[in-house]
Amino acid sequence: MGGPKYEGKEDLVDKVVIVTGANSGIGKETVLELAKRNARVIMACRDMEKCEMERRNIVLDTKNKYVYCRKCDLASQESIRNFVTQFKKEYDKLHILINNAGVMRCPKSYTKEGIEMQLGVNHMGHFLLTNLLLDVLKTSAPSRIVNLSSAAYRTGQINMQDLNWDNDYDAGRAYSQSKLAIILFTRELASKLKGTNVIVNAVHPGIVDTNITRHMFVYNNFFTRIFLKPIAWPFIKAPRHGVQSVLYAALDPSLTNASGCYLDNCKPKELSEEIKNDDLAKWLWKVSEKWTKLNVT
Ligand SMILES: NC(=O)c1ccc[n+]([C@@H]2O[C@H](COP(=O)([O-])OP(=O)(O)OC[C@H]3O[C@@H](n4cnc5c(N)ncnc54)[C@H](OP(=O)(O)O)[C@@H]3O)[C@@H](O)[C@H]2O)c1
Repeated sequence: MGGPKYEGKEDLVDKVVIVTGANSGIGKETVLELAKRNARVIMACRDMEKCEMERRNIVLDTKNKYVYCRKCDLASQESIRNFVTQFKKEYDKLHILINNAGVMRCPKSYTKEGIEMQLGVNHMGHFLLTNLLLDVLKTSAPSRIVNLSSAAYRTGQINMQDLNWDNDYDAGRAYSQSKLAIILFTRELASKLKGTNVIVNAVHPGIVDTNITRHMFVYNNFFTRIFLKPIAWPFIKAPRHGVQSVLYAALDPSLTNASGCYLDNCKPKELSEEIKNDDLAKWLWKVSEKWTKLNVT
């Protein structure tokens, strides 16, 4: 039930990688796997205590001392900009950017700039981060961007009338919208990056046992933990299984010329025609530029 394993044995010595939301679940497992392959990994996290604790464990496990913690709160555009400024002072290369951090079905709340939290962190924060890092990704090419989406995109719609869920907030629909937004962003970015040797793909990691359900009472009550989890257990991946498609997206040589794809179980998966809506992707890009003040210096 764990799904296919990524079998590549790439050596990433001198390769620089950023992983967002790296202190938990799939992000933590991603750092562990990349550190085992000798990469220099920057763990971009909002909670420095949790980040440092996991960094130490990873360094002890892998004997790779080139794993670092840096503050990046994706719910604050100031924090994202500060992270990028510091990163560029420290490094002149970036080979892999893994946009992993995510929040699911949280109560209605907003980022520092007033963007609905799931759209703000999952999509807008990573939109800003990625765009601010594009120059260094291009000069480091061949390089890759991996965006953690979810199969939940299939139930998502871009709510053009009320993108920010100011009226009628629904936590599940807001999550699906944010994961669909990531796919539209991935496709539009892939088209903008044609000819640069920087590829970008979206990944569904599977249903993985992590902290992502922290806001979902149904998964965290006593009854579910004792009775339902053991029954569901064979169908839920451990983080070490959930990371496999992320590794495939970040490393597999067969993807060298594949960009704008949706990857699931270590292979590309066809998107529905509805999702391949270039006009919608362009509309979302324009709104994202405006809401993140991307072009304001
Ligand atoms: N697990 C699944 O079944 C599943 C399925 C499909 C897609 N995904 C996607 O996979 C990705 C990883 O999730 P996971 O399952 O590993 O969940 P997780 O264990 O909850 O990890 C999420 C990470 O995102 C971080 N994060 C949340 N808000 C942030 C913010 N404002 N700024 C910076 N970091 C923030 C969290 O930091 P804190 O620890 O500080 O909160 C944590 O490190 C997410 O994008 C998720 O949507 C997961």
